[in-house]
Formats: sequence, structure tokens, C-alpha cells
Amino acid sequence: MSQSELYVSLDIGSSSVKVLIGEMANKSLHVIGVGNVKSNGIKKGAIVDIDATVQSIKKAVDQAERMIGKSIHEVVLGIPANKMMLQPVKGVVAVNSENREITDDDMDRVLEAAQVMSIPPERELVNIIPEQYIVDHLDEIKDPRGMIGIRLEMDGTMVTTSKTILHNVLRCVERAGLQIRDIYPQPLAAGYYALTEDEKNHGTACIDIGGGSTSIAIFQDGHLTASTVIPVGGDHVTKDLSIVLKTPTDQAEKIKLEYGHAFYDNASEDELFEVPVIGSDTKEQYSQKYISEIIGVRLEELFELILDEFYRLGVQDLPGGVVLTGGMAKLEGLPELARNILQTRVRLFTPEYIGVREPQYTTSVGLIQYAYMDDVFYGRIGSGAALGNPQKVEQEPKPQKQRQQKQPKEEGEGVVTKAKKMFDRFFE
Ligand SMILES: Nc1ncnc2c1ncn2[C@@H]1O[C@H](COP(=O)(O)OP(=O)(O)OP(=O)(O)O)[C@@H](O)[C@H]1O
Ligand SMILES: [Mg+2]
Repeated sequence: MSQSELYVSLDIGSSSVKVLIGEMANKSLHVIGVGNVKSNGIKKGAIVDIDATVQSIKKAVDQAERMIGKSIHEVVLGIPANKMMLQPVKGVVAVNSENREITDDDMDRVLEAAQVMSIPPERELVNIIPEQYIVDHLDEIKDPRGMIGIRLEMDGTMVTTSKTILHNVLRCVERAGLQIRDIYPQPLAAGYYALTEDEKNHGTACIDIGGGSTSIAIFQDGHLTASTVIPVGGDHVTKDLSIVLKTPTDQAEKIKLEYGHAFYDNASEDELFEVPVIGSDTKEQYSQKYISEIIGVRLEELFELILDEFYRLGVQDLPGGVVLTGGMAKLEGLPELARNILQTRVRLFTPEYIGVREPQYTTSVGLIQYAYMDDVFYGRIGSGAALGNPQKVEQEPKPQKQRQQKQPKEEGEGVVTKAKKMFDRFFE
């Protein structure tokens, strides 16, 4: 495939809203635009102020647009793991065509058949992640199209989330004047990208430590099997530093980024720095070792909470160990502390693309990679309309349904349309 395809991902985080414009060509990604704006209106991963969130999204979109001189229309959206539930589902259909060859239409129908499960009124379907197809009792098929059979089955995982959480995210994106190309759970996108195939197969936890929350995604047998969120992140560390050192929050954040260390044993006693004290003209001197104790206490508590979550989720063994990512994962000494408390192998994951070589961008890059993989699988490449003209055409966002009807119908669009239709209901 020589054609390149543009994707824009939107990660609405508690610390910052990140917009990434990526060009996918022959499975490789080039990041061509980045927007990263301090977020307002998001706490512990969930939206608490719609207007403030919309403003943050608009600013981040603007930043990314300026880098490429084009406007953004369509985004791949990550939704937080708060209140998310994973459930196994199964779809079964009879193969439709006369010659019994499995086609895109059968793939659509089997996906639809898997959605028949009743979902409680306060929950909403986000995705169905296919795990294997079974054609006339022959299992472990990744792609049954072109095969001959009578009965097609699909085993997958249904992801549902709280209607309120999803509705608020969708409302913000809509108000920011953006259309949604795809929606994926943030931990699915981050884990899919950060973990190697072996790690995904053997049983590994991807832990994304952000500003206001820490997301855990467990992968086993190649699939996401569990996901949960702990409402503790890097911002708690900043707050602790600010309180103990009696210094303003912005100073505490600066100190954390510049001198922070998570592991007391390895922190330096000679690395000294001065900290302004709130309400006085004086400055106090501290060492890295001193603040590593403050930071360590909070992070030890976080890793203990992670162990509790492993226990609650029934995760007894992680042969692939733990992969740490998210903005906070960049803190010096964090893998050592994690190893010490989790008592397993720990590695740090950082994206390798120019412009986004920071663990805070793992989810953003993962969203693009995941959407691309999905599009390749469903033959949707070439149908994207992520970018448009330099001037924004739509100042007043029209209802989602109306705008989506204007989308040109592409060949092989069936499954995409289905994903999009799922969310139209909110705007009816
Ligand atoms: N170099 C660094 N060293 C230490 N901490 C860092 C560094 N860079 C960023 N952080 C911290 O990472 C956190 C933000 O991470 P990230 O951008 O992944 O969060 P988010 O996605 O906005 O939030 P969440 O996922 O909780 O909704 C902040 O607390 C920030 O201080
Ligand atoms: Mg995040």
C-alpha cells in the first residue's frame, strides 16, 4: 500500500490534552503535528467541567493545526478506563453467500450478533474487540474472509462504560467542532502499542501513570483481559511536594521535573537546590535525597494500590512483568521503586517517534496505531477525512448525525459506519 493515511488522535488527560497528527504509510508512522495544552476541567481522568474541557481541546487542536497549516475535522478518541467493564461476548451467524465464501457482510453481521447482549440502561457500548473467529468449529482464525464455511462465530470482548462519562466526553468533542472517526479505551490503545507481541501473549500489565490517575491494562493470550483505574497520579506527588516544602504548586511541579527521584536509595545527597517559600522572601535548600522520601511515600502507596488491584482482578502471575508508561513514568528511579514493591520485572516504555519521545504520548500514538490496524483489517484505508482546509469551515458544530450523513460512502465502509452509528444516538 503506497497510499498514506492521516490520523488525528485526541487524548483528553487530567494534566494535558494531547492532539497528534500522524501519517501512516506502509505501517510506519510519521508524526507531523502535535498539540499539548494544560488541561482544565478534567479530574482523575473524568470530565468535571465541559466548557473548560472544550477550551482545552480547541487550544490543543489549534496548536497541532498550526504545525501543518490545515484544519482538523476528525479524531480518533481515547476514552478513560474509569467505570469501564470488559465482558466476553459471542456472535454466531450462518454464512450468507451462495458459494459459502465468508465476506465483509458476514463480518458485519457476526459483529452485530455479538452486540445483542443486554446492556444495563446506565451503561453504553464502546467497542467489541474480536479475539478469534471460528468457521465450522475450526477456531483461532484471525481473519476468516475468503474462507468457505456454513457457520461463522466470533469470540470477543465487549467494552462498556458509564453513559455519563462517555456522554460528557462526546459532548466536549462535539462542542469543539470535531467529528469522531473511532473511539477506543485509552488503556487498550496504550497497551496495544507499548507491549510487545510476546508480552501481550504471556501475561503483562501496562501501567500508565498520568497526572490525575493511573490506568492498569492486563494483557493475556494476546488480548486485553482486564482494565482498571486508580485515582492517583503525578499531580498528587506535586501537591505533596508543595505542602511539605511550603512552596507554590508551579514551583513544586518544576522541582519534581528537574530534581525528582522516586527511589530513596539511589537519590543523590549532593544534588542541592533552592525552593521559594510561600509568604516569605526566603528560599530553603533541599537535596534530591530529601525530596525523594516525600515522592517515594506517595508512589509506594500507589504501587501498593496497584497490587491490591492485581489481587482484586485475580491477577496472580505476570510472566511478562510490568511495563510502565504515562507522563510520570519519566521520573527518575520509578522503575527501581516499582520493581521493589511489585516484585516483578519492570521496564519503561517511551514512544520512539520524533516529536513525541516522551512516555506521556504513549496513549496518543497508541490510538493512531490501533485505529490504523483496525482500518487495515476492515479494508477502510483511504476513507479518512481527518484534515481539511486551512480555515475552519464549521464554527457552529452541527449535530453529529447530520454531519455524518454527509460523509461520502466508501467501499467496504460497513463496519466503520456501524462504529460511528453507535454514538449517533447521543446527538439525536
Ligand atoms: N519528566 C518528567 N518527570 C516527572 N514527571 C513528569 C515528567 N513529565 C511529565 N511528568 C508528570 O506526568 C504527569 C502527566 O502525565 P500525562 O500527560 O501522561 O497525564 P494525563 O494523561 O494528562 O493524565 P491522566 O492520564 O491522569 O488523565 C504530570 O503529573 C507531570 O508532572
Ligand atoms: Mg493519560
